[in-house]
Amino acid sequence: MNPDFQRRIQRYGWDKAVPYYESAWQRALRPAQQRLVEVADVKTGERVLDVAAGTGLVTRPVAEQVGENGRVLAVDLSNQMVETLRAIIQRNGHGQVDAQQMDAENLDVPDEAFDVVLCSLGLMYVPEPRKAIQEMHRVLVPGGRAVALVWGRRAGCGWADLFPIMDKRVKSDVCPLFFQLGTGNNLETQFQSAGFEEITTDRFNMELPFENEEEACEAAFWGGAVALAWDKFDEEKRAGARREYLGSIDEYRDGEGYRIPGEFVIAQGCKATT
Ligand SMILES: C[S@@+](CC[C@H](N)C(=O)[O-])C[C@H]1O[C@@H](n2cnc3c(N)ncnc32)[C@H](O)[C@@H]1O
Repeated sequence: MNPDFQRRIQRYGWDKAVPYYESAWQRALRPAQQRLVEVADVKTGERVLDVAAGTGLVTRPVAEQVGENGRVLAVDLSNQMVETLRAIIQRNGHGQVDAQQMDAENLDVPDEAFDVVLCSLGLMYVPEPRKAIQEMHRVLVPGGRAVALVWGRRAGCGWADLFPIMDKRVKSDVCPLFFQLGTGNNLETQFQSAGFEEITTDRFNMELPFENEEEACEAAFWGGAVALAWDKFDEEKRAGARREYLGSIDEYRDGEGYRIPGEFVIAQGCKATT
């Protein structure tokens, strides 16, 4: 797919997803995001860049960790995400946090400006993740560290049928590279190619809890990567896609709700000091 087209789908799709993202995903994603925050081990006073920050589910705990003498810059491709994050920062009185609209592949920040760069569940949506990881490396000080969380292999993701269900109705790939970095050693290899050293990776599985069909469908269709395509569907297409999707996750039913398996990978790397 043409990279500019993919960027537009992401940018305007996530604009649509904003009102649903936290209500649909926050509970399910919290354990994986907490793991990223633990691995990053951010210290008081550090300067942190949060790439593809969304509504700030990782930005906010990290803002607490850096304290008033630190700084967090949260960037995202979607204007609506950035506006929402700005409002949340203001409400929380987080003066050490700034939010700006930026593409992960082309960060408008100087070289060597941050001690830590984080990217939680953002690299799957970037048309050329290699460029985004190189950018993460560029903006780190020597000795700085980058930590990225991505979804794992397709086979480890219980909601993966969502993509073919959407793709056949829009006759194109809605999110063509979604599982690429989380497969095999791909994320680690990309970190190596970007120049990172002392790389460690952690592949882990979690169950994503959804209370009922409504919540599971809201997360899949309204609150994430396919929101732009979903927004354009008529009622008939929506009903068909919903039926098929619920069929695809039926094996993960747990009473009224679902516990859907999810696989994730975290990679951490350091920028050399010399
Ligand atoms: C699943 S959300 C993750 C948000 C947040 N980091 C979290 O863990 O909750 C994915 C985010 O990636 C952003 N995104 C997609 N493509 C991007 C790009 N090329 N540059 C920056 N952000 C991008 C989307 O706008 C969206 O906010």
